[in-house]
Amino acid sequence: MQEFLLIVVAYMIGSIPTAVWVSKFFFGIDIRDYGSGNAGATNTFRVLGTSWGSFVMVVDILKGVLASFLYLLLPYYLTNQLDRTNFMIGLGLAAVLGHIFPIWAGFKGGKGVATVFGMVIAIQPLVAISVVAVFLLVLYLTRFVSLSSILASLALPVLILVVFNEPELLYRIFAIAVALLVIVTHQKNIGRLLNGNESKARIFTYRDR
Ligand code: G3P
Repeated sequence: MQEFLLIVVAYMIGSIPTAVWVSKFFFGIDIRDYGSGNAGATNTFRVLGTSWGSFVMVVDILKGVLASFLYLLLPYYLTNQLDRTNFMIGLGLAAVLGHIFPIWAGFKGGKGVATVFGMVIAIQPLVAISVVAVFLLVLYLTRFVSLSSILASLALPVLILVVFNEPELLYRIFAIAVALLVIVTHQKNIGRLLNGNESKARIFTYRDR
C-alpha cells in the first residue's frame, strides 16, 4: 500500500509540466502551440531560448531523480538492494509516464527523455554518463536533438544488457521498454527525419522575434 502511494506521488512529480507552466506563467503562451508542439526542454530551447530551455531540462531531469529516490521514505528499501532497484524502476517509470501524460496539463506532455535520464542517474550513474556521451556525440555530429534522444535511448538496453551485463530481469525489461517508449514518443520526429524536414538545434527563438 505504501509502495502504491509512493508510485502515485512519483507520477504526480513527473506530471509537473515544466515547459507548459514556464511558457504560460512567464510568456503568456502555451509551448504546445509553438515549434514542434512538444512540452519538453528541446522545444523550450527552440521557442523560449537557452536559459528557459536549460531550466526546463534541469527540472525535468530532477523529476526523474527525485521520484526514483522516494524509496528513501520506506526503511525496508534502505537495506534490500535488489528490491530497491526494482522499486526505483517502478518509481522512475511512474514519473516518466507522468511527464508524458501529465495530470496537471491535460495529459499532453513531453517525450520522456529528460525524466528517463533523471531516473537512470538515480539508479546507475555510470550508465547515465555513458548514455549522455552517446547523446552528445550524435548531437555534435548531426545537430538533431531527436535523433540524439532516440540513439541514446537505444544505447540504454545495449549498455545495461551487454556492456554492464546487468543480471536482473526487471532491469533488462526496463531498458528495452524505455527504448521502445522513446521510439513511440518520437514517431513524428522519425517521420520528419526520414522526410528530411526535422529541425536542427538552432539559435533563433520566439524571444528573438
Ligand atoms: O526530447 C525531445 C526531443 O528528442 C525532441 O523534441 O521538440 O524536437 O520534438 P522536439
